[in-house]
Amino acid sequence: MKQHFSSRAAGARRSAIRELLKLTEQPDIISFGGGLPAPESFPHEELAVIAADLLRNDYRNVLQYGTTEGSRTLRRAMVEWLRPQGIDVTLDELLVTSASQQGLDLLCKAFFDPGDVVFCDLPTYLGAVQAFSLFQADKIGVPLEEDGMDIGVLEEKIREARAAGKKLKGVYVIPDFQNPSGITMSLAKRKALLAVAQREDLLIFEDDPYGHLRFAGEPIPSIFSMDREGRTILLLTFSKVMAAGLRLAVMAARGDLMDALVRVKQPTDLCTSKFTQMLAARYMNEYGLDRHLEDIRPIYREKKEAMIRALEKHMPDEEGLRWTNPDGGLFIWVWLPEGVDAEEMLGRAIEHHVAYVPGSSSYVDGDGKNTMRLSFSLCTPAEIDEGIRRLAKVVAETIAARKVGAAA
Ligand SMILES: Cc1ncc(COP(=O)(O)O)c(C=O)c1O
Repeated sequence: MKQHFSSRAAGARRSAIRELLKLTEQPDIISFGGGLPAPESFPHEELAVIAADLLRNDYRNVLQYGTTEGSRTLRRAMVEWLRPQGIDVTLDELLVTSASQQGLDLLCKAFFDPGDVVFCDLPTYLGAVQAFSLFQADKIGVPLEEDGMDIGVLEEKIREARAAGKKLKGVYVIPDFQNPSGITMSLAKRKALLAVAQREDLLIFEDDPYGHLRFAGEPIPSIFSMDREGRTILLLTFSKVMAAGLRLAVMAARGDLMDALVRVKQPTDLCTSKFTQMLAARYMNEYGLDRHLEDIRPIYREKKEAMIRALEKHMPDEEGLRWTNPDGGLFIWVWLPEGVDAEEMLGRAIEHHVAYVPGSSSYVDGDGKNTMRLSFSLCTPAEIDEGIRRLAKVVAETIAARKVGAAA
């Protein structure tokens, strides 16, 4: 039956890493693999009360179809919540989506023809790469530095792509506590990226699932909030700040860009679940998202600190072995010494009952073999210590085996 597949479906690959990580769901494995939020951060009791009330007393509304743009109650709550953060939007500049992964799909549908260029970090979020690939976009990687995308290299790549006659569409970035690296883009680089986008007439796709999970340091203004030309589209998901299972997010965009997004969403799903939209809206109005965030940030701070302590305690002292120390989000990024292949090492790690995501899956240029992503969100501090102890043993053995191999 394969002859019936569209060229898109025929070309779409299951992520090998996601398949491998299924092995790590066994209970005796300590997994730093999945990028899931901590379940203890979900406001389940409050949501249960609201859900019961909605289903009893507002069922005619919440069990019905809604508008493609999304519930006005939810968008109004978001407008109010975003304003003190410097993000000034009207109701019509917000589109509710079935979480940000759908937002990425809609961006592709609205703005990409096959071969159109999107610039992204090396490394970047695998789910975005999969969406861009499905729409046959040409993904050009730009190295990520400790303060975000290397803007000088971005400018070079833009020149090269233009010289090659390519059609350039935009730049995809995750400025706060990036997935997978945990790196945050500095204010100077956000401004520089905006200036490049203005000069080169590019869109900016700003994906920010983790910015509100900042547990140290000061917030940095979003690119969207500094953009006076309306060329930035901002994706904000409820997955990490409320509950991933709600499958709820909003996209902020101005003018024609928003119009295009609404038009491509309509045939995609008609509307996002009205029930979950009203759950989130009522939660925001009755309990307050900022108060909830105050409660859940310490959960992530404690886990991140436990992982940094464990890395410092257990990892061997080897040249080239280093890691990020993020002020928020879910992820720590580890660079192994040159020549160590984290993908190859994963099999041995699983034998030692510990797992991680090899970094190469996040590089659109096939690089990053000696990197890995560790998520600290799902384990207790004690599990983190034990898991890193196991991982450090595997890392030390792998490095030692390479040295013996090189000497032989
Ligand atoms: C950078 C980034 N964008 C988008 C998503 C998708 O999130 P969701 O579809 O749950 O909103 C994720 C999920 O991990 C992510 O890390």
